[in-house]
Amino acid sequence: MRLPRWLRYFSPRRGRLVPGPELGARSGIKAGEAQLEQVRGVAGYHQSQADIREEDLPDGEVAERVEIDIEEIVPALADPDVVAEMIAPERAVRAHVGEALLSLSNVTVKFGGLTALDDVTFDIKRGEILGLIGPNGAGKTTAFNAMTGVYRPTSGDVVLDGRSVVGAKRNEITRRGIARTFQNIRLFSDMTALENVAVGTDARHKTSVPGALFRTKRHRAEERDAIDRGMALLEFVGIGARATHQARNLPYGDQRRLEIARALATEPKLLCLDEPAAGFNPAEKADLMGLIRKIRDDGYTVLLIEHDMRLVMGVCDRIVVLEFGRKIAEGTPAEVAADPAVVAAYLGVPDDATS
Ligand SMILES: Nc1ncnc2c1ncn2[C@@H]1O[C@H](COP(=O)(O)OP(=O)(O)OP(=O)(O)O)[C@@H](O)[C@H]1O
Ligand SMILES: [Mg+2]
Repeated sequence: MRLPRWLRYFSPRRGRLVPGPELGARSGIKAGEAQLEQVRGVAGYHQSQADIREEDLPDGEVAERVEIDIEEIVPALADPDVVAEMIAPERAVRAHVGEALLSLSNVTVKFGGLTALDDVTFDIKRGEILGLIGPNGAGKTTAFNAMTGVYRPTSGDVVLDGRSVVGAKRNEITRRGIARTFQNIRLFSDMTALENVAVGTDARHKTSVPGALFRTKRHRAEERDAIDRGMALLEFVGIGARATHQARNLPYGDQRRLEIARALATEPKLLCLDEPAAGFNPAEKADLMGLIRKIRDDGYTVLLIEHDMRLVMGVCDRIVVLEFGRKIAEGTPAEVAADPAVVAAYLGVPDDATS
């Protein structure tokens, strides 16, 4: 039997709202299960009061919208510093800015007769936003796939923090610190936003399956941590109020933000974004660039694939340009923009040739 959604958020055992998050001493938000219960409680409460806005979705379904004021539930989250600390508690900020974090050396990826990446070499330096640009089919996504273990390079090496990731499994690479989003959004569409992010946090956790089954102390602690960080991350990317919405009911832009939050939940050293602004209008794009800058300022290194030149020029510290699988230029935005090879590659390509 399928329960109505609001019943799933409502805890009959606990009644409605669980009072008072157990505020921890330092960050002030070690609220854990109580916090989630509150989120659920608030959703349930609103539902039970029939205080819901119903929205018609294009496919004929009706979505229930329950907006939550996170700051009312966890007042500590009103402080951006607290949110930042929750999000990246162990980040090694700034210490090694400028060193190579990830190096591609002579990477070639072939699909049968087609060479998608041809002897490509570049570094991503700690603390920078590196743009990866190039016309359609230039090999940008293939470079991501070679870095994240989706494809094994035909030849060449990919080194993260001094160790090769070639041949490592995808989840192993995630654990070692590379997270990504996809050109086509891939979320768990039936899960709530918070659950999607909590899944990302899981990549970090150590509990075994029996641990989860028998709900060991460690497992419970990890679950609490996942919820705390999940809420903080949703708040960080600007969709905290929609924590209990099913991913598929979120507006498109929020889904993109949720994907970023989920990637950040794995506590990556390097965040790879594959056309995160695809399908956005200019205002949404500007907004997203603000978020990407915020992520970098928070101590992450970012690799950004994006078609919109203006956008890339505005946000990136350096840019690598691919064309037909080859690197044709590398440098600061100004250097790249003035490069004749780049101008030629983009000649006739409209400014916003998003596929
Ligand atoms: N799995 C695959 N099998 C065969 N060919 C592939 C595969 N993946 C990519 N290619 C080909 O490799 C080339 C590079 O593709 P890739 O997706 O990396 O380009 P891109 O720069 O990301 O382009 P876009 O801007 O359109 O996303 C293309 O010619 C593409 O058709
Ligand atoms: Mg692509």
